[in-house]
Amino acid sequence: MTIPTLPLSDGYTIPQIGLGTASLNDEQIAPVIVSAIEAGYRHIDTAFRYKNQRGVGKGIRDSGIARQEVFVTTKLDGEFQGNDRAIAGLDECLRQLDLDYVDLLLIHWPLPQRDEYVSTWKTFETLADSGKVRSIGVSNFKPAHLDRLLAETTIRPVANQIQLNPRITRSDQHAYDQAHDIVTVAWSPLGQGKGLLDEPTLQTLAATYGKTPAQVVLRWLTGLGIVAIPRSSNPERLRQNIDIFDFTLTAAEMDAISALDTGAEKRVDSDTSGH
Ligand code: A2P
Repeated sequence: MTIPTLPLSDGYTIPQIGLGTASLNDEQIAPVIVSAIEAGYRHIDTAFRYKNQRGVGKGIRDSGIARQEVFVTTKLDGEFQGNDRAIAGLDECLRQLDLDYVDLLLIHWPLPQRDEYVSTWKTFETLADSGKVRSIGVSNFKPAHLDRLLAETTIRPVANQIQLNPRITRSDQHAYDQAHDIVTVAWSPLGQGKGLLDEPTLQTLAATYGKTPAQVVLRWLTGLGIVAIPRSSNPERLRQNIDIFDFTLTAAEMDAISALDTGAEKRVDSDTSGH
């Protein structure tokens, strides 16, 4: 199973499906990573906040895959904002992962009330030259936050990881990202398994194509040019979630899925979210 990649603005590429790891601890995640890599995953998403970087690193090593074959993202949250704290933060992530570098380092939340994301980004820019990280990006940023980074700093974020699924389509944010050559990455693309997959529109399309509703959602996302990082600890569903590139939704079907949007975006611009 080969997963397509998207180009990043700095010349690297990112696999369009990755494995989300939030809410699985070190012991739980390591064997899931091995199953995922065996199935064909080449992109793993973790964060300092998830407290599972040791397990993620162990899983990558246990899989036997060469380091350069797998794209690893991690994120630094509020405690690493301001005062060059991100330098020590990245070192700690690499120590926990037991890796020499990560492919993508993200600011986990803008935390606008603290107003430190611009200075944190300037620290990220120095890290981009350190050999310890290839690409730098952001998570849970809105246009106003990105406007400031683009105006006040030098390196453009390659990616913005946001909550996005058929009920929360974030079409304005995705359009903004696209207009600024920023890849949108969707966290919780399956709606956290909370009823989204029962939507009749998704069930009908799944029957049409002989796929599951989850596969239809992931095909919709990838068809929009979005990267998705679904979570699963079930080996069968892990395989299912990358087996999505042998069918194509029509424009009308894509629109029908986008029409499931309820506008109910979760608040993620504070430190209260686990994502
Ligand atoms: P499980 O780990 O038992 O597979 P999200 O990525 O949107 O946060 O959603 C994660 C949830 O969706 C998990 O509870 C996961 O459960 C479930 N899930 C993952 N893949 C599938 C799938 N292909 N079909 C149904 N549920 C899935």
